[in-house]
Amino acid sequence: MAYENILVETNGKVGIVTLNRPKALNALSAGLVRDLGAALDAFEADVNVHVIVLTGSDKAFAAGADIKEMAEKSYMDAYLEDFITKGWERVTTCRKPIIAAVAGFALGGGCEMAMMCDFIIAAQNAKFGQPEINLGTLPGAGGTQRLTRFVGKSKAMDMCLTGRMMDADEAWKCGLVSRIVPVDDLKDEVLKIAEAIADKSLPITMMVKEAVNAAYETTLAQGVRFERRLFQASFATDDQKEGMNAFIEKRQPSFTDR
Ligand code: CAA
Repeated sequence: MAYENILVETNGKVGIVTLNRPKALNALSAGLVRDLGAALDAFEADVNVHVIVLTGSDKAFAAGADIKEMAEKSYMDAYLEDFITKGWERVTTCRKPIIAAVAGFALGGGCEMAMMCDFIIAAQNAKFGQPEINLGTLPGAGGTQRLTRFVGKSKAMDMCLTGRMMDADEAWKCGLVSRIVPVDDLKDEVLKIAEAIADKSLPITMMVKEAVNAAYETTLAQGVRFERRLFQASFATDDQKEGMNAFIEKRQPSFTDR
């Protein structure tokens, strides 16, 4: 399928979506979000794809929702089309792991889109921020909620109220990103990480994702119970037998995704 606003490729079991509106620093227009949703639908339906990487350019992951597209919207426009939820949440409903590979600006909706992914690998030049306050509005794609869960109330308030940017180092120190790599190595390093995950059992990676995400939605006791049920369910898979027997037999496991 041809897309106008993104590039899509696969590398082995890794599906890669590159946001591609360079003239607008990958601003997340409605068309781009539609393209992204369609690409995720295709990757999710493809049993050969185990992991998805979402990335942008060296200059910008995404500089936010498209300001030119939204500037003149009325409240009723926004309400009726459920702006900005529609389409964006497709990222959060994907059951396969999605890694955000962020170089350059991840601002506003760009930061929110990165946080909708499962984890973020940042290039050294990455800059994160929720600058919506400078535009007379506030984050509308989960920024106040997800950033607060990632970095805690004090830093989330600081970021959302001042609209300042944080660099990769600060983002790593406060837990927003899991690793930092040199800009020129970002794609290769993220691909290596994605391939390492893609080599595991697909249903088990999906269960891990589901279990970790439950930590955001449940009490500790509910989350631990949910995890235990999935752990027990893993014993119904061929891959659990293969993984444990491979360890005992001192060989590499060969998972069949069953
Ligand atoms: N929407 C639409 N166009 C954008 C854009 C955005 N979010 N961000 C950048 N662009 C466009 C610029 O208008 C410019 O286009 P023209 O060449 O046609 O003028 C082009 O991208 C390059 O941008 P700059 O010339 O500004 O580049 P710069 O290097 O000088 O600055 C920047 C980079 C600091 C990221 C600056 O572009 C900027 O501040 N962008 C806006 C960031 C922002 O406020 N994001 C939040 C958007 S609101 C939101 O996301 C709501 C939500 O919660 C979902």
